[in-house]
Amino acid sequence: MEITDFYGAPAEGKEYHVNWDPASAEKGGFPSFMEKEIHDQPDAVLQTLLGRSDINGKLTLDELRVDPELLKNVDKIIVLACGTSAYAGQVAKYAIEHWCRIPTEVELSHEFRYRDPIVDENTLIVSISQSGETMDTLMAVRYAKEQGAKTVSICNTNGSTIPRESDAVLYTHAGPEIAVASTKAFLAQITAAYLLGLYLAQLRGNKFQGEIKDILADLNKIPAKIQQILDNEAQIKELGQSMADAKSVLFLGRHVGFPVAMEGALKLKELAYIHAEGFAAGELKHGPIALIEEGQPVFVVVPSPRGRDSLHAKVVSNIQEVRARGAKTIVIAEEGDEAVKAYAEHVFYIPETPTLLAPLLSTVPLQIFALALASAKGYDVDQPRNLAKSVTVE
Ligand code: AGP
Repeated sequence: MEITDFYGAPAEGKEYHVNWDPASAEKGGFPSFMEKEIHDQPDAVLQTLLGRSDINGKLTLDELRVDPELLKNVDKIIVLACGTSAYAGQVAKYAIEHWCRIPTEVELSHEFRYRDPIVDENTLIVSISQSGETMDTLMAVRYAKEQGAKTVSICNTNGSTIPRESDAVLYTHAGPEIAVASTKAFLAQITAAYLLGLYLAQLRGNKFQGEIKDILADLNKIPAKIQQILDNEAQIKELGQSMADAKSVLFLGRHVGFPVAMEGALKLKELAYIHAEGFAAGELKHGPIALIEEGQPVFVVVPSPRGRDSLHAKVVSNIQEVRARGAKTIVIAEEGDEAVKAYAEHVFYIPETPTLLAPLLSTVPLQIFALALASAKGYDVDQPRNLAKSVTVE
């Protein structure tokens, strides 16, 4: 072995002893792929953003080989996905509709094909799939193509079937996701969907270039903010470990926080095998509040108080409602939000960020919680029972 500098000149090396076995090396020293992949998330978002806009904030989605004129005539977007990827689509829906003013539906792939959907040449199908092999989503994309729609695939696996059969692809660059429970791909999918939404807004003139540049600047701050949450994960990890005996956990969210609540519940279901359910916070009084009893753990994803304060005030009121009925309230809130403290048994703060980008941060504590609770139960968090990484059957 010869140690040189980048120019080939002899250099002094520094000796390290790496006691990882090959598997650990793949896990980057973490006890599980899932924990490694949660910690990969700052880079997953960064890599998905990299190279897709210029210094003026102009989006350059070169691989999106769909005729810009056609994209200008799109009058409806239908997102097709399953599971966590569908929740990424639900988050993106709020942003795409806000930025592009194009009606955007999010459909579970396995439901879409059988409901006689209204699809034509002005419909843009956006499939979201980490593996690119999910049969439900592949069959739904094929069905939509038969109806004349243009199809774009948001996918994390280069050369997989769904992007190959789509008219265009926007790859997420999260890197290989080994753990069955999707984490870094989820954040990368949201990021890619945001880029697509901003690209459409740029193409159709819904947003000035300066506005798009500002949103991209906020997006480029997200990796560091995720890292900040990861650097302070001990508190949420301890809570997860302390709740290994929980039999049921509810998750509430409003606006973009609603799909985050659903994703938090899914993570807990698939990792810890306990009942977990996500609800739109506004839905509480329409039934789910009957589930609240003494000690019932309830996560509440609270929107920024700096956004539409009506949203924030309503969610704080929801926390009060469940707390008054004995719930153990666990709140994810923005740094500086003092209003939630009075009604929360635990508060986990996330860095300030615009409302539409908050899911890229508020999801992370829920992932860590599910991982910690499942690990405390001694379960295999990389390969949960009954589940496969890619569902290649309908
Ligand atoms: C995610 O944690 C789950 N493993 C599952 O819901 C997954 O998101 C779903 O099966 C879709 O997979 P895909 O993204 O590869 O299409």
